[in-house]
Amino acid sequence: MSGRLEGRLIALGVTGSIAAYKAVELLRLLTAEGADVVVLLSPSATRFVGPLTFAALSRHAVESELMELLPDGRIGHIVIADSADAVVVAPATAHWLGAMASGMAGDVVTATCLATSAPVIAAPAMDGDMWRHPATSGNVERLRTAFGYTVVEPGSGPLASGQSGIGRLADLPLIVDAVVAAVAGRPVRAPDPAARPPRVDGVVREPDLVGRHVVVTAGGTREPIDPVRYIGNRSSGRMGVAIAEAALDRGARVTLIAAATSVALPDDRAAVIPVETTGELRAALLATLFGGAGEGFGDAMAGGAANGAGGGAPESATARFDALVMAAAVSDFRPTQAPDHKLERGAGMTLELEPTPDLLAEVSRITHGLDSTGAATRLALVPAPVLVGFAAETGSLDRAPDKLRRKGVDLLVANDVMDPDSGFGTETNRVVILDADGGRDELPLLSKREVADRVLDGVVARMDARTPAEQTGAMSEVSR
Ligand code: CTP
Repeated sequence: MSGRLEGRLIALGVTGSIAAYKAVELLRLLTAEGADVVVLLSPSATRFVGPLTFAALSRHAVESELMELLPDGRIGHIVIADSADAVVVAPATAHWLGAMASGMAGDVVTATCLATSAPVIAAPAMDGDMWRHPATSGNVERLRTAFGYTVVEPGSGPLASGQSGIGRLADLPLIVDAVVAAVAGRPVRAPDPAARPPRVDGVVREPDLVGRHVVVTAGGTREPIDPVRYIGNRSSGRMGVAIAEAALDRGARVTLIAAATSVALPDDRAAVIPVETTGELRAALLATLFGGAGEGFGDAMAGGAANGAGGGAPESATARFDALVMAAAVSDFRPTQAPDHKLERGAGMTLELEPTPDLLAEVSRITHGLDSTGAATRLALVPAPVLVGFAAETGSLDRAPDKLRRKGVDLLVANDVMDPDSGFGTETNRVVILDADGGRDELPLLSKREVADRVLDGVVARMDARTPAEQTGAMSEVSR
């Protein structure tokens, strides 16, 4: 019995009947037959079952708004109409049958049916008198004969009205059988996943970062050797950009500080600050997080890191950011000198390199009110921002817990860049998320977008777990 819909895309339209909850089980049965299922909800259906349940089970974003575009700009219900092998509307209300019979495309379910050349299967559910009404019979007749739709008639039994009679949604296996029969013998319409609505790996997140300012760094820094050459690294920026996009989708205000990247940046939605060198990245971080290198914390950071001399006391320790996710691959070394002319080829050359400052460790110290000696000499920021570091390791993640402590971060996302699925430029990543309380979450191989959401889940959890003192600054001389 299983696998009769293998490789098929089935659109499941749900309209506003009390039987809408049964569509969740229908989705499960269609999936068990091997189908890729995408769910369309009419506005009244959303009052019976929330889109989150369908999204989590179908691994597709739910279509419920006629005017809403897919993230890539395509029109959702048209993509579904053009790629689905069948549209099954279950439960179909009396209202939906009437709207459909008259071609009134006021919601995503009717609009998809109007726009598709795929077979349509409708499974009505309603009160018995409504089902027997000539208006309903006429509409059903028109859908059958003029439109060629399959109608899986309702069954008899107890109804929501308390009465007993005809009107119950047909048994779900009968509806699945009707879908199987409708597609039998037809070629798969859109075997290429790119032509279908995009799949999401995980649960679609709630907008849980509304009102938060999330700062993300991405890409690889480049250190000039001379005006035409640089020391760089193989970071594509994909992971950092995925974090920025995920934070935007969850409602955050995002500042993306972008070193060299080879992916599109969400510059229409985020404030993007392009940088090239570690020095520029540092200046952009100072300006964004602490209000500029020339004031308060910025001076403290620059002076403190270089020679132990702090800047003036800050006027306010109110944080300008809620989280920093440091996904950039920061160069660890830079040439001590970069001449302003192109170096000529000679017999050979030796580059003298100096270490760059550890930006994350410095940001952490300032955030927690510590100077470069580790002494609590100034106000910690409130509410305490959540700091996230990345650790690209080769071969073993043994050094990660020490790196988390050394950098003073709340979360450290460690991965092995030698793993072919997790290296630079891949679409996927296999990471371990360590937290400052000793927690260790080993995630399976996931898309970078899903890794981004898992990291942000950790960020949100730590924000929510902040003590009242950390929220308000009642105890602002906190040191870690
Ligand atoms: N990082 C930073 N400043 C640097 C180097 C790295 O802020 N000069 C940040 C990275 O953005 C990343 C984290 O620190 O979030 C860890 O980077 P990684 O290169 O793995 O750590 P390193 O400090 O370079 O440690 P090691 O060289 O021992 O691996």
